[in-house]
Amino acid sequence: MLYLKNLTYHPTASPTAILKAINLELAPQQMGLIVGPSGSGKSTLLEILAGLAQKTSGQICWRDQELTPEALRQLGGLVFQFPERHFCGHTVLEELRLGHPELNSDKIYQALDAVGLIHLSLQAEPHALSGGQQRRLALAVQLIRQPYLLLLDEPTAGLDWSMRRQLVTLLAKLKKDWSLLVVSHDAADLTAIADRCWTLSHGQLQIADPASLISGENSPQPAV
Ligand SMILES: Nc1ncnc2c1ncn2[C@@H]1O[C@H](COP(=O)(O)OP(=O)(O)O)[C@@H](O)[C@H]1O
Ligand SMILES: [Mg+2]
Repeated sequence: MLYLKNLTYHPTASPTAILKAINLELAPQQMGLIVGPSGSGKSTLLEILAGLAQKTSGQICWRDQELTPEALRQLGGLVFQFPERHFCGHTVLEELRLGHPELNSDKIYQALDAVGLIHLSLQAEPHALSGGQQRRLALAVQLIRQPYLLLLDEPTAGLDWSMRRQLVTLLAKLKKDWSLLVVSHDAADLTAIADRCWTLSHGQLQIADPASLISGENSPQPAV
């Protein structure tokens, strides 16, 4: 169970706090969805939860234990926005083994299976994969680390409608084994599979009703 208690982030370079007294709870095997416009603080929040940036005040706890940035780096697996831009391996195998040269093939196949890429050649070039496959590979790279909490920054951005739908189906499957915290500027695809929803506006988090998030211009496209 993840708890954020009055989490605030106010770097000296910013005239106002970027995250303002954020309170949030996320249970295991749940997907939390934070929806907010560009610049509202979504990526900053994920960076703090991944241990890549240091909060100014407040607490981040897992069960009853307060977490340091180092513990957060162990606990969380952050998939950046457009993760395919950060691929470094020449092959799928190299990408999955980066930082884990000792990984046996069972672990590699488990991770690929979890994201529906079991039939992919380990020798395929990450940059030659389809957009949807690249997102799945980026997820597999994090799953191999066995994080408790998967943090996903705009996971459907830049994908076409059918690939977005496949990714949403995959996230619904992954939440059976992991806690997921997803941030997006676009609620349409993800609200249906979210267990908890919040909006983020100018660094302020509020509980949201999923139905209100998908009303109006954010309505999902009809299935064809
Ligand atoms: N370390 C920092 N110093 C100053 N401003 C920052 C810092 N980190 C983030 N910001 C600002 O915080 C705001 C929120 O950014 P971000 O978290 O990327 O929003 P989002 O992901 O919702 O688009 C932006 O205006 C960004 O410039
Ligand atoms: Mg962002």
